[in-house]
Amino acid sequence: MPAAPSPKLSTPAGQGGPPPEILAAFEAAKGFMPVDEGLALYAAAVEAGRLGLPLLEVGTYCGRSTVLLADAAREAGVTALTVDHHRGSEEQQPGWDYHDPETVDPEVGLMDTLPAFRRTLHRAGLEDHVIALVGRSPQVAKVWNSPVALVFVDGGHTDEHANADYAGWAPHLAPGGLLVIHDVFPEPEDEFTGQAPYRVYLRALASGAFTEVSATGSLRVLKRTGDGI
Ligand SMILES: C[S@@+](CC[C@H](N)C(=O)[O-])C[C@H]1O[C@@H](n2cnc3c(N)ncnc32)[C@H](O)[C@@H]1O
Repeated sequence: MPAAPSPKLSTPAGQGGPPPEILAAFEAAKGFMPVDEGLALYAAAVEAGRLGLPLLEVGTYCGRSTVLLADAAREAGVTALTVDHHRGSEEQQPGWDYHDPETVDPEVGLMDTLPAFRRTLHRAGLEDHVIALVGRSPQVAKVWNSPVALVFVDGGHTDEHANADYAGWAPHLAPGGLLVIHDVFPEPEDEFTGQAPYRVYLRALASGAFTEVSATGSLRVLKRTGDGI
């Protein structure tokens, strides 16, 4: 989860990237995703949107990646769903490397990224294309029972959380749908927040239900080509 500012990139005209105002909204939002990975996520969301089913994200934070999913959803005439309890992951808590004091609600003394997320969506003009599911990912997944075209796993980075996100949401991924996993670091020395997402990526491939489509930075895109998880 590199927090360093990413280089300014733009999508070459005619190559199907997000419109400039959407890319600008992505870059303006707090978050951890570099632009090259954002463009790969957007391309996956556009492709998945052709299935005519919702696009689902685990890990909203302040809406940086949600902006891209929402725009792809708008283009496809579907809805983006984004799940977060908005209290932050382990590594985002006070005293940890990825903590941002601006995300703390001074009244309750805990992180609350929901207001920043709502501002991000409002500024991008995308509020009508997103349903925010505020809660713990496994708890929301347990009551969810309809298919989705894309599952983007970018929630908690412990083995417990990353596996629960995969086990909770991958069963809802339609045939031909895309499983996108962030922060996949095969080399231990490259990892920033642990290798749990890498282990989930290996688990998905080992299941025989997924085939790798692309790799961009730490972002992996897998397609559902079989049943199960
Ligand atoms: C790495 S951030 C997401 C970054 C975001 N996708 C972006 O690109 O800016 C991870 C988020 O997952 C959320 N999270 C962690 N564990 C969770 C869980 N079990 N249920 C719901 N949300 C969780 C945290 O609150 C945090 O906002």
